[in-house]
Amino acid sequence: MDAVRLQAMVSPLLDWYDQNARVLPWRSQPTPYRVLVSEIMLQQTRVDAVKPYFARFMEALPNLESLAAAQEQTLLKLWEGLGYYNRVRNLQKAAQIVVRDYGGTLPRDPEKLKQLPGIGDYCAGSISSIAYNVPCPAVDGNVLRVITRLTGDFSDIAAPATKKAITQQLRQIIPSRAGDFNQALMELGALVCLPNGAPLCDQCPLKGLCTAREKGLIHQIPVKSPKVARKREEKTVFLLLFQGTVALVQRPEKGLLAGLWEFPSSPGKLKKTEAADWLLQQGMAPGALEKLPAARHIFTHLEWLMTGYLARLKEPPAKNVFCWAPVDKLREEYPIPSAYQCYRQRLEEEKEMTPHG
Ligand code: ADE
Repeated sequence: MDAVRLQAMVSPLLDWYDQNARVLPWRSQPTPYRVLVSEIMLQQTRVDAVKPYFARFMEALPNLESLAAAQEQTLLKLWEGLGYYNRVRNLQKAAQIVVRDYGGTLPRDPEKLKQLPGIGDYCAGSISSIAYNVPCPAVDGNVLRVITRLTGDFSDIAAPATKKAITQQLRQIIPSRAGDFNQALMELGALVCLPNGAPLCDQCPLKGLCTAREKGLIHQIPVKSPKVARKREEKTVFLLLFQGTVALVQRPEKGLLAGLWEFPSSPGKLKKTEAADWLLQQGMAPGALEKLPAARHIFTHLEWLMTGYLARLKEPPAKNVFCWAPVDKLREEYPIPSAYQCYRQRLEEEKEMTPHG
């Protein structure tokens, strides 16, 4: 589609945005720091889920300097439940570089932003446009859907070349209200041009310009090639309790959920007798083992299928292989991935049953 036709959407889209944009904390006060943090949070997480995290983060770390100086465990705790924890480590590294190399002022040039850890094409565009009105497109999944429908484009939106081509098209028409324009496209994708063949075309400010609507193609576009199947891993999780404490282990510094805390576990789906053997191997006499409900957690490329057991230890653990954390300190002090939510919940109930351990 040529730029002239695409150009026709700018004005109705901005008018619609002025009337319909959600009031969001990073929109009402778009300082570069707030935009940076919100865009990193929003990269893999829905707006509604981000809101409380954003408020908490701003209260604990109100500026770039405090973020640059924060303890890693503080960061992980503030991010607990949002997932993709490397985002927050990179965010801190980026803040440290900005303090060191740019005197604490986030650069406005998308090319400079892209040199910071964790900032790719999308974030460089969204941050520079929203914080500084730099005319740079920001193309995420919502924008890809809106534009391919609008232009009747059957390209695979999972292909990097499609993203590149659409970025180029948008570069030619991006108006001076660049931040509002980019957010308007995202907003239209989030509120009106919904995925899975369910767009609310009647409410769309671009309905008169949309090729997919005109040709009855909303169910065919966007085209998205299927993802490769996720790997599945069985694991057996142990809630080991001893005098008001629970056993935890810290995950390695690199890789999935790096540095977070979790309950001890063994690979595989252990039967009760095998679970008791595993505990003996760790130097613990379990007494009665209680089977816990199975749980499942889906990561981008991996799925955990979890079996759980709870054991109350009668004697102090023989070998000191685990960290024994007071159950009532878990919530405040240990960042634990939400994959374990079901087992954490069980511990909360435990706390209620035995208030002092
Ligand atoms: N997704 C990513 N950035 C966003 C923003 N600024 N507003 C709404 N949704 C978003």
